Amino acid sequence: MKSTADFMRMKREQEKIVMLTAYDHPSAKLAEQAGIDVILVGDSLGMVVLGYDSTAFVTVDDMIHHGKAVRRGAKETFVVVDMPFGSYHGSTDQTLKEATRIFQETGANALKLEGAGNVINKIQLLTDTGIPVVAHLGLLPQSAAVLGGYKVQGKTAEAAEKLIEDAKACEAAGACMIVLECIPYQLAERVSQAITIPTIGIGAGAKTDGQVLVFHDTIKYGDHHIPKFVEAYADAGTAIRNGLQSYAEAVKSGGFPAEQHQFTMKEAELEAMYG
Ligand code: KIV
Ligand code: NA
Repeated sequence: MKSTADFMRMKREQEKIVMLTAYDHPSAKLAEQAGIDVILVGDSLGMVVLGYDSTAFVTVDDMIHHGKAVRRGAKETFVVVDMPFGSYHGSTDQTLKEATRIFQETGANALKLEGAGNVINKIQLLTDTGIPVVAHLGLLPQSAAVLGGYKVQGKTAEAAEKLIEDAKACEAAGACMIVLECIPYQLAERVSQAITIPTIGIGAGAKTDGQVLVFHDTIKYGDHHIPKFVEAYADAGTAIRNGLQSYAEAVKSGGFPAEQHQFTMKEAELEAMYG
């Protein structure tokens, strides 16, 4: 399994880091088999798997339930689990209690927290405790209601400067990696140059140290909104729907089950049964 030191080295040697979300055992296993460097159990879980229209409904128990399944499916891959909405904004004690639970119960390699400001202290707290932290700047889906929707961030010089300072603060607090979501590619490049820990972009252009996409977006699985910055590399949704239609038709037409699918009894047993 790769370590945070490997990711630092990959950044130095300009080898791109590939991150993908996963939420269950089969998707984690496929991601590992595909050679994904980091699996993120994102709280995007709320939208793409649980059918909510915001990540704000996802709980610590949800993250643990899915995090455990991912860990079992990808034993050799660095797994990051999102701390969900509201779970790291209270007291130090409360944050540490939730973080420790998620970290211990899922067996994750790191936890991810959105934002800077007061969150910087929490990054420091978890790092000091021995929990590696991935930071997340730019568009913060957990704060969408406050930001006024899902909009590109850091478009003004002032906002861009602030984001660079936030990234430096995340690094200084001990973050091992930073996800940059929905910011101009020029800013993402500046941030990547300003810090020594890797940047992982989503909707942040080609100049970050790695990329992350949501599993379901990457393979067209589900009917949730697909953002502009996504490229789909397979059409699993169509493949699955076609397969399910064929199954339904086969049952209706009597084509399934066929002889090879059924169990049988010995002749003597049948005779004994009917007397
Ligand atoms: O929850 C998630 O999937 C994420 C990625 C979009 C970075 O946080
Ligand atoms: Na997330």
